[in-house]
Amino acid sequence: MAAIRNSSPDEAFYRGSDPFFTANAEIGLTFDDVTLATLYSDVLPSQTLLDSRLSDHLRLNIPIVSADMDTVTESRLAIAMALNGGLGLIHYNMPEKDQLHEVSRVKYHVQGLIQDPIKVSPDQMIGDILRLIDEKGFGFSTFPVVDHQEKLVGLLSGHVVKPRYASKKVSEALTPRDQVRTVSRGELGNDPIAIADKFFTEHVGIHKLLVVDDDDRLHGLITMSDVEKITQERKAQFKPARDSQFRLICGAAVSATRNSCGELDRERILSHVSALVERGIDVIAVSTAHGHSKGVGDTVRVVRDAFPGLPIIAGNVTSAAGVEYLADCGANIIKVGQGPGSICTTRIVAGVGIPQMTALYVCSKAAAAKGVSILADGGITKSGDIVKALSLAQGVICGGMFAGCTEAPGEVVEIGGKLYKQYRGMGSLAAMKSGSAARYGHDKADTTRKVAAEGVEALKEACGPVDRVLANLIGGIQSGMGYLGAGNLEQLREKARYIRVSPAGQREAAPHDVVELKTKS
Ligand code: XMP
Repeated sequence: MAAIRNSSPDEAFYRGSDPFFTANAEIGLTFDDVTLATLYSDVLPSQTLLDSRLSDHLRLNIPIVSADMDTVTESRLAIAMALNGGLGLIHYNMPEKDQLHEVSRVKYHVQGLIQDPIKVSPDQMIGDILRLIDEKGFGFSTFPVVDHQEKLVGLLSGHVVKPRYASKKVSEALTPRDQVRTVSRGELGNDPIAIADKFFTEHVGIHKLLVVDDDDRLHGLITMSDVEKITQERKAQFKPARDSQFRLICGAAVSATRNSCGELDRERILSHVSALVERGIDVIAVSTAHGHSKGVGDTVRVVRDAFPGLPIIAGNVTSAAGVEYLADCGANIIKVGQGPGSICTTRIVAGVGIPQMTALYVCSKAAAAKGVSILADGGITKSGDIVKALSLAQGVICGGMFAGCTEAPGEVVEIGGKLYKQYRGMGSLAAMKSGSAARYGHDKADTTRKVAAEGVEALKEACGPVDRVLANLIGGIQSGMGYLGAGNLEQLREKARYIRVSPAGQREAAPHDVVELKTKS
């Protein structure tokens, strides 16, 4: 009671993170174990800002990342995440070549002014161009044609890049230079999109505009569909997450690969990361079940030495020592979470792991001291969990929330009149056989020892496009921030006040004593 006499009842009951988690040090707490207290607010939910700086070179417009899991993130979901302002991490349970392909699909999605467009030469065959599109995973098929001095010769339009013309030369199929619309670099000014927008309105039926210099050398390409999407997105509250060249941002998972002697395969890791960097990757994720380990630390070091400016996500950890170790190895962003995931069985199988809110608090202290950020990875089932996670972390990673989305890999199956999509843990036997064994410290080729699965194979109810799921999550996060009077995520971290919830309090928190007519919006 002394506490109440000396301070306000609010301070005694609803505590900031340091006193709250210290007072609860003897128990591991997760999202449903705590609730956030409301505070005086002059902030409207719709005014709250959700941008989050994960590292010097990586900023998201919404603090949500889709998990690098083979039933969650490939290019379709990564594109949708980035268009909404977040980030998708493309998984590595596929041949390296396919992963690079997936990354290209994201990076070449919509660009605005493409400063260094993919060009072809008049001597190439249409068949060569078709192979190039397939190899690189380009989502477009119109190419400027230039000679060996980069001078514009014409435009190879998508409707002639067809297998039936495979044996024809580009020079036979191109639209010649004098029929191609161009703009000089000098005319573009500070807002090339506005200039291009005007051009497309004035020139009915023209969809591509090429940028040339005074010597007719090619310097860029602007397409009408890109301009239209960009003009639309300029009006959006949460803008797409783009790199400095206006491409969507994209992350990819990298394995701590070992050679046949069990040693870290530095050359393979570096050649994989180099290829990703060449494709324009914005961040790589060294994702394993046990990040506070030599293999993960050495992998991060190898990549950091070779690519000093590349943002690196590494994990997973649940201790301050784990965060410090990975930060010292060169990681900028640390994944926190061992066993909270909806398909995880690590805590049951291995008996290890820490409930997520306690893990996040402990890791946040070390992260602040080291100047790195943390991502709350796993266990998120509702927007309220994200608000709680963001009171300690700079972002969240979700798997299960997106696995039922239209853009997630896999087919929809109907069972008993309901639609589902497959969702499996990367530590499930099936996923480990497809390539994720290293993530759990196993070798998929080793048939001599028994491997215990640390994840399950499951189904998620199909939930429609990711835009809709994200809109609900963002609405919930903004609502939580409004209750706390937090205009941005930094203020949310500063202002959050916590209290524990009893089992009766948990029941009270969900709809009760009613017959619910509709549970989903
Ligand atoms: P949610 O709860 O969003 O969790 O579905 C996704 C996160 O779970 C982790 N993950 C696993 N953890 N066994 C585990 O213990 C697994 O098989 C497994 N697969 C994924 C991962 O961190 C992911 O982001």
